[in-house]
Amino acid sequence: MIRKIGISTGGGDCAGLNAVIRAVVRTARLHYGWDVIAIEDGFDGLIYARNLRYLSVDDVTGILSRGGTILGTTNRGNPFKHEVWEGGQKVIKDMTPGIVENIRTLGLDAIVCIGGDGTLTIANDLFKLGVPVVGVPKTIDNDLMATDLTFGFTTAVDMATWALDRLQTTAESHHRVMVVEVMGRDAGWIALESGMAGAVDVILIPEIPFDIKKVANKIKQRQLTGRRFSMIVVAEGAKAMGGDRVIIEGATMGYQNVRLGGIGNEIGAQIQELTGIESRVTVLGHLQRGGSPNSFDRNLATRYGVAATNLIAEGKFGQMVCLRGRDVQSVPIEDAIGNLKLVDPNGQMVKAAEQLGIEFGRPDTSMI
Ligand code: F6P
Repeated sequence: MIRKIGISTGGGDCAGLNAVIRAVVRTARLHYGWDVIAIEDGFDGLIYARNLRYLSVDDVTGILSRGGTILGTTNRGNPFKHEVWEGGQKVIKDMTPGIVENIRTLGLDAIVCIGGDGTLTIANDLFKLGVPVVGVPKTIDNDLMATDLTFGFTTAVDMATWALDRLQTTAESHHRVMVVEVMGRDAGWIALESGMAGAVDVILIPEIPFDIKKVANKIKQRQLTGRRFSMIVVAEGAKAMGGDRVIIEGATMGYQNVRLGGIGNEIGAQIQELTGIESRVTVLGHLQRGGSPNSFDRNLATRYGVAATNLIAEGKFGQMVCLRGRDVQSVPIEDAIGNLKLVDPNGQMVKAAEQLGIEFGRPDTSMI
């Protein structure tokens, strides 16, 4: 018998988190008559049981179109390995016994965990400890296995496409090469989809290590045919053949270990050097994560929120909602984590882009 549930958002934010929160609260309150408790800042809110509050339907009115998360989030906390100060020293402690105790004391019958690979891995480990969790998949990178789509992704693609359209007009006016760095740590979905929608000339993704000479040749060929500007979109996790991802030195970040960034600048400098054409670089960064979700993400997030609440009603803990084709379904969280959904370098979409003349910088096979 369910009476009270908790809800939390973990990992990097993205457009549509508030839409999930709204859908869970409305379904829980209006359809099932349950109480909903807001848990702030991912699992940190459960470790310290701080700022907990009831969420009413009024509390979630007007948030469907709002970016970010009203619950706050973090991509640094891991309750199994939590940094605390003890006796003037930083020590790593397992805080999950406290979480389990707080859940019991608060009378929470289930927790909705909204997050990406890192958050869902922790949620699954808590489930193994007996915590009744259900998951909702989120990441703009769209790299979670077991779901066709995560919400926030298509909004990020729209944002990147919007930027590419604008950058193209200035590239054309100045006869320049524009390099646009987008997010995508391990998977190049944002670069691929925005690059195709923005009709760029070169797409560089983590799944296809690139040869910069192939990229430069493509730009030179365009020059020869009178096309005096070029557009390159590069995922932050892309790397040159035989090279490594470009990281921001000294910057660490929770679940994801290293902060990526800088590949766009490297490519811009190399292309200018190799082609003699003036190049400029734009890093879109968190513009892709902030702001209002598009209508597709609003509806996907809303459907996920309703389905996650229904999973609780059905007692299907340890499960995550997912999209298969056009249907929202569910899978064990276990199946969705630790196994990233990457772009297939020989898949239909990449092949179609290549047939259109888009360069991926694939090294010549004779060079491999
Ligand atoms: O995982 C989502 C993501 O947006 C990545 O694409 C990016 O590398 C990372 O988060 C950035 O995180 P932060 O907000 O900590 O800079």
